Order: sequence, then structure tokens, then C-alpha cells
Amino acid sequence: MQQPIAAAPDEAAANAAFRHEYWSSRLAFVLAASGSAVGLGNVWKFPYITGEHGGGAFVLVYLACIAVIGVPVMMAEVLIGRRGGESPVGSMRHLAHQERRTQLWQAAGWFGVVGSFLILSFYSVIGGWALAYAWFALSGTFGSATGGGGEGTAANIKAIFDGLLADPGALVGWHTAFMALTIGIVAGGVKGGLERAATLMMPGLFLLLLFLVGYAAVTTGSFGRGLAFMFSPDFSELTWDAVLVALGHAFFSLSLGMGIMAAYGSYLPRHISIGQAAIVISALDTAVALLAGICIFPIVFAFGLEPGAGPGLVFVTLPIAFGEMPGGGVIVGTIFFLFIIFAALTSSISLLEPTVELLQQRRVRRGVAAVAAGVVIWALGIASALSFNAWSDIPVFGKSIFDALDFLTANIMLPLGALLLAVFAGWAMSRRSTAEELELGEGLPYRLWRFMIRYVSPVAILLVFIYNLA
Ligand code: TRP
Repeated sequence: MQQPIAAAPDEAAANAAFRHEYWSSRLAFVLAASGSAVGLGNVWKFPYITGEHGGGAFVLVYLACIAVIGVPVMMAEVLIGRRGGESPVGSMRHLAHQERRTQLWQAAGWFGVVGSFLILSFYSVIGGWALAYAWFALSGTFGSATGGGGEGTAANIKAIFDGLLADPGALVGWHTAFMALTIGIVAGGVKGGLERAATLMMPGLFLLLLFLVGYAAVTTGSFGRGLAFMFSPDFSELTWDAVLVALGHAFFSLSLGMGIMAAYGSYLPRHISIGQAAIVISALDTAVALLAGICIFPIVFAFGLEPGAGPGLVFVTLPIAFGEMPGGGVIVGTIFFLFIIFAALTSSISLLEPTVELLQQRRVRRGVAAVAAGVVIWALGIASALSFNAWSDIPVFGKSIFDALDFLTANIMLPLGALLLAVFAGWAMSRRSTAEELELGEGLPYRLWRFMIRYVSPVAILLVFIYNLA
């Protein structure tokens, strides 16, 4: 008789400990979620899509998407995770049951799993570029390319980038290294190492960006032109395609639509305000993206580069600045690319984690799950890597494999995923449930959120889709 009675509470405690693993503080959650949000999307993607879509007007639309759609959807995703308390798939199952809705809502969770796989496959290729560039910086490549600061500077720096892209072995090798790092961190558990390191690295990245903004302001002589490009809108440049890209990138940059913020929300203790956290995370993410643009565009104009140069933009601009610094910028350049690698890793692990969590719940060991899922993603990524060289003439819907994957995920899957989550939180969940979870009371802030998530976000997403089809 003694045995089972003694064992039962232990087992219950063990179960509770497994399910109720929480962030230690609001700061821990904000940092981890910001770590997921701030990544290559801010430093690599935001500047080049801004350049491709004409600058100011695009930036304004992007900021509006963040504030009007991004923040409410982030609140919805975190509240779904906290109330559901499981992996995104599990949370949707649980909540659909609780709210007496169809179990088909689980599909939104699976949609996120597939989307995360596709995103990580090409994300890792760009992460590989950052690894390669940290190595180039360390070995003094930029200093020798700019030697003397003469005419050929921009051309030499561009040649380094073109050389990397043209080399299938190098691209696949660096992609493999980045994926191995991602798998290693996820397999080893995210909490201790990475979370602590992210706490140190995020402020470092921020400070270094401020330093580079100062550099661009003082030395390029084109600071005003760079700022004007980013902040004086010319709406004649704006197309519906650009609006879709801005909307898709708002989701990409905030890590929304794939259930990742729901997974992070499932570890969030009760008393923490979801609304405040969402605002802080979105503001940090936006600040990093704007700072990156503010250091890059003055260099673009000073050296006669093209703002619309495409995915290589950050890799053909900042190395010019590094190369011209005393000592070839070995130290500053290396640290900068290390920070980028770090920002990329805190995002890439968040793309792998939900799948690993899901497999773990089906009794697969964590390490095995990370390697298995990681290897599938790695293999997919090879197609993206080769689409810059050996496979560049294999078109998918008229684009390279890399561009097609980027378009499919950012411009179609993320808005669709966000739409599903918004409709679930706004229409499928009861008013009582969401009000209770957001802890905003029934006053104006709650009513504003509910109005946004029921009407503004879904209608805006649908309109942008329809205009793009038409
Ligand atoms: N937000 C990250 C970045 O800007 C990328 C990312 C991480 C992401 N998790 C995501 C994008 C989930 C979409 C969905 O680099």
C-alpha cells in the first residue's frame, strides 16, 4: 500500500516539472524571443529588400505592417502558446478541444512545421555566408581588397562575394558548418549555453551597429543621402508587390506565422503581460533593422553601388568599410560577422526547436530528433546553395530555387500562417479566453487588440493577397 501512494506524488511532480518548464523572468522571455526575431532578416534581408523596392515608401509600409499587424498577431501567437501549454501542434489540438472547435485547426501547427523546415533550409545557406565572411575578415581579405582605397575598391570587394557564390564546394561546406552548429546547440539543450550567450551578444550587436552608424556618418560623406533614401517616401515607387514583400517581411522578421512564438509562449509564466512583451520585442527588432539600413545605405551611395543589388548587399558594402579601417578592419570586421553569426544562430535554433519538441513528445530522444530533422533540412538546403552556381539555370516558377523558396515562405506561407492564427485567436477562441489570457481587463487596450485581430489583420492580409493575384 505504501509504495503506490509514495510514488504517485513523485510521478505527478515529474510530469508537472516537464510540462511547466518556464522562463525564469520576463527578461528571459523577451531576450529569447528577441533572439529569435533578430537575425539575418534584420541585417541581411531588410536592407536589400528596402534597396530593391525604392527605399522610403517601402520602409513606411513595413513599419505600418509591424505596428498594425505584427504586434497584434504576435500577441495572438504567444497567448495561444501560453494557454495551450504545448508544442504548437499540441497547443492547437488542446485549444480547439477546449473551445469546442474542429480538430482541423491542428493543421495550422503542421503548416508551421513544414514552413520552418523550408525557411531554415535557405536560412542556413546565408548563415554559411556569414561564417565565410567572418573567416575572410579574420584573414585580412578585406584590407588587401581595398588596399590604398583606390578606384577598384568596390569591384574588388564584389569579386570576393561573386567568388564565394560561384564555388559550389565552399557554399555547401559553409552551409554544412552552419547547420552542424544549429543541430549541436539544439541537441545540447537551448537554455544554459545559448540563452546566456544571447544575453551578452545581443547588446554587443546593438552597440557595434551604433558604432558603424557613426562610422557611416563621419567618413562616407553620403550619410544624408542614405538617410533620405530610407526615410523620405516616394509613393510613386510603391507597387502592390512591394506591399506584399513588406507584409511578408514583417512576419519573417518577427518570427510570426509558423507557431514559433507560440512555442516560446508556452514557457511563459502567467503574470507576465503579453502585450508589453510583444511591443518591446517588436521595437527591438525594428530598431536593429533600421540601424542596419542606416549604416549600409551611406556606404552604398558613397561607393557608387546599386541599392537594388539584391541578396549580396550587406556582403558587398560593409566589407568596404572594414577594409578601409586602420589595420584592414580585422578586429571590427571579425567581431561584426561573429555577431551576425550569433544573431543567425539564435534564430535558426528557434526554427528547429518546435519540430524537435514535437518529436520528443513522440518519444524520440532529443539528440536523435535534432540530428534527424537537421539532416533533412541540410539536404534541402543543398538545393538552395547550388542554385547560386551549378543549378542556377534550373528555374522554379521562373525563379532560382533559392528565390522561389524565399518567395513561397515569406510571401505566401507566413501571411497564410499568420492569417490562420489570427482567425483562431479572434474568432474561434471565446472572448472570455483571450481576455483572461492577455490580462488586459475588458478596457480599451483589450478591445483594440480584439478589433485588430478579428478585422484589421485578416482583412489586410487578404487584401494584399488579392491585389497581388489581380
Ligand atoms: N526572424 C528571424 C530573422 O529575422 C528568422 C526567423 C526565425 C523566422 N524564426 C522564424 C522567420 C519563424 C519566420 C518564422 O532572421
